[in-house]
Amino acid sequence: DKLAIGIDMGGHYIKAALIEEKKILKRCKVSTSKTRAPEGVIDQLQRIIKQLQPSDNALPVGVGVPGFLDMGRQHVVLLPNFPNWEGLPLKCMLEDRLKTNVAIENDANCFALGEGLAGLAKGLKNFVAITLGTGIGGGIVLDGKLLQGAHGYAGEPGHMVFGKDESCGCGCRGHLEAISGTDAMERRAIRLGLPDDMEVLWPRRKEAAVAEIIRPSLDSISRAIASIVHLLDPEMIILGGGFSRAEGLLQELKPLVQSYLVPHFRDTFRLEISSLGNDAALLGAASLVQDRSTTAA
Ligand code: BGC
Ligand code: NA
Repeated sequence: DKLAIGIDMGGHYIKAALIEEKKILKRCKVSTSKTRAPEGVIDQLQRIIKQLQPSDNALPVGVGVPGFLDMGRQHVVLLPNFPNWEGLPLKCMLEDRLKTNVAIENDANCFALGEGLAGLAKGLKNFVAITLGTGIGGGIVLDGKLLQGAHGYAGEPGHMVFGKDESCGCGCRGHLEAISGTDAMERRAIRLGLPDDMEVLWPRRKEAAVAEIIRPSLDSISRAIASIVHLLDPEMIILGGGFSRAEGLLQELKPLVQSYLVPHFRDTFRLEISSLGNDAALLGAASLVQDRSTTAA
């Protein structure tokens, strides 16, 4: 059917919406439990879904999950920034609790789907969506199809290796998200005795101490974008996630990205910030359980 609930399970907020086709009828948002452990977060998901269900109608639910899922989209494999979720049969757990149809998909893949359905990437056959937040995620659309890879793990720019020692939530070192994820930036801020809140730090980015935190992050994000362009030749790179809405981010990124690009690639693609904000991921999540014949563009 056309009505569904879309959820985006973020490190700081769980966002949810009641959606009819591509229209958001109602939104809800709660702060994610501090520990990000399964019991608390699953309770939060259940509560937020209950709030959005009209009467006692059990609408289908699509959930964007911040990490690696098995190919069949039944189990969690690893959520780098949420401890103790490995192996959890999340789809069945939610279906048992909610007594409704549930689909799970990687959160950044949901964002890419939503952008393709209703955002700036609508109608494009080759684009890459990147989410900049607690973690850094990606969704790769090639020839009109979301890239899955051999195991369902494709599209993980946050774990591209641009550094060396920075420790990543996934257990490795040197990953992009350990340098440029907002949690990583906030951890560096604490070490330097600065406020651990990107919204406070960003406007102060010209100050030397703050620049020390933000410049390496922007530089690594730019290298990632240039590398992805060289690798995949997309028409668009579209940025989402909380950090993508930092005012003036594109002006900071564009010259850096250009500096890393082979000249022939300098105007082959558009670099954009999502115009849908949080809604893209919610629309994409809902689209997982909406009847394709009624939602096709
Ligand atoms: C995960 C991705 C996810 C991203 C954003 C990363 O740590 O590996 O799967 O999309 O965070 O939540
Ligand atoms: Na992905």
